[in-house]
Amino acid sequence: MGGDELTHSNFDFSGFDVPELKAVTLAASGQPDETRAVGEGKAGKSGKAGKAGKSRNRKTNPSKKGANVAKDSKNKKERIGLFTPMGLRDVTVRNRIWLPPMCTYSAFARDGKPTPFHYQHYVSRAFGGFGLIIAEATAVTPEGRISPCDVGLWEDGQIDAWRWIVDGIRNAGAVPAVQLNHAGRKASTGCFAVGYEGQSVPQEAGGWPTVAPSAIEFGGLNKPRELSVDEIHGIVGAFAAAAGRAVAAGFQAIEIHAAHGYLISEFLDPLCNERTDEYGGDLEGRARFLLEVVDAVRATIPEGMPVLVRISATDWAAGGWDLDQTIVVAKMLKEHGVDLVDVSTGGIMAGVSIPIKANYQVPFSEQVRLKAEVPTTAVGLITKPKQANKIVARGEADAVEIGRAALRDPYWPLRAANKLGVPATEAPYQPQYIRGAY
Ligand SMILES: Cc1cc2nc3c(=O)[nH]c(=O)nc-3n(C[C@H](O)[C@H](O)[C@H](O)COP(=O)(O)O)c2cc1C
Repeated sequence: MGGDELTHSNFDFSGFDVPELKAVTLAASGQPDETRAVGEGKAGKSGKAGKAGKSRNRKTNPSKKGANVAKDSKNKKERIGLFTPMGLRDVTVRNRIWLPPMCTYSAFARDGKPTPFHYQHYVSRAFGGFGLIIAEATAVTPEGRISPCDVGLWEDGQIDAWRWIVDGIRNAGAVPAVQLNHAGRKASTGCFAVGYEGQSVPQEAGGWPTVAPSAIEFGGLNKPRELSVDEIHGIVGAFAAAAGRAVAAGFQAIEIHAAHGYLISEFLDPLCNERTDEYGGDLEGRARFLLEVVDAVRATIPEGMPVLVRISATDWAAGGWDLDQTIVVAKMLKEHGVDLVDVSTGGIMAGVSIPIKANYQVPFSEQVRLKAEVPTTAVGLITKPKQANKIVARGEADAVEIGRAALRDPYWPLRAANKLGVPATEAPYQPQYIRGAY
């Protein structure tokens, strides 16, 4: 970026810092609203006001259409819904609507530092009411980037670039998490800002040679080099160091990316791990790298900080990675101090057919949750509030993640609250936005 441009480092945000700012409600504020325009009514005894209040009353009337989560949770205390807070170690997440990690390929300076774009992207979704916000795949080494424009935490200079974003998320009442990743054989690929989308970026355009458990390429990407055992140990250390930097930046949870065909899932899958040493062979060998990463991260971060692992529950290929192996590994993860498994699928093998439709990954989450007895999240074409609420209420997942639907609607949780009959006074509105409540 040019020297005159506004960045996190040259803009003074101190005047905007409101520590401990929580989403407040009209009822909780207890203040008569003297600026309310004529015709919008006045705050009455109930604290509900005029047109906006009537609209909320209508929408929250349990006799009208829509599941009334608030009423349900009063009547049946044990009933869990989207807006039931969730505890993970020392962290309480305000609801079960989470933002999954989604690459934005927007570290345009190619230095791994998030930018004002990332601030706006993540903080607006925190304003929109998401409970946990998992920042996109963040590289633990420069060679571990999916694209040249990925963000990273591979050096200390990146910590400050994250801190203002993390503070912004926290001040908006959401919990900031970061997904740590090494892209393995799927590193050095193109993106909208670089070109070469879906291909390997040539070295003359800023690409680099890739590494993997075995020298087997993915689709049409460049062939990776097999990692030595020393290099594997080095990458385990890089995950731990990046986790330490995440703590320094103020993140409250770490997600380890063990899904979608990036380095850790390449080790897990027998179709791309042909090693004959201790990091290959049977499931114990193939899971060794993941468990070493988990142990190293756990040993680096505070005891009260949750660790999540995102896993592909199947590679959708015959003879490859499947749900049974996922369940075995999920049990291992639990024993190694992982607090939640974020259940996705696919991305490991090219050319497979995936039965994509609404909820298509939910049964995997349900099975992992039941059989490994570990909390899970479900993700993948969950787009509608009632659909999402059912997944949580039925115990198919402890939380849902809303991905692409959140790219088009950062305020998805506030809309969901309205659809589900949660009173605006109990929905995660920012105080500045309560006047615009549904
Ligand atoms: C633009 C984009 C970027 C993504 N980047 C990541 C990522 O960094 N890490 C990851 O684990 N999944 C990533 N995903 C997958 C999403 O987290 C999510 O699992 C997927 O989009 C399915 O959920 P949805 O149907 O709600 O979008 C990405 C998806 C999209 C659309």
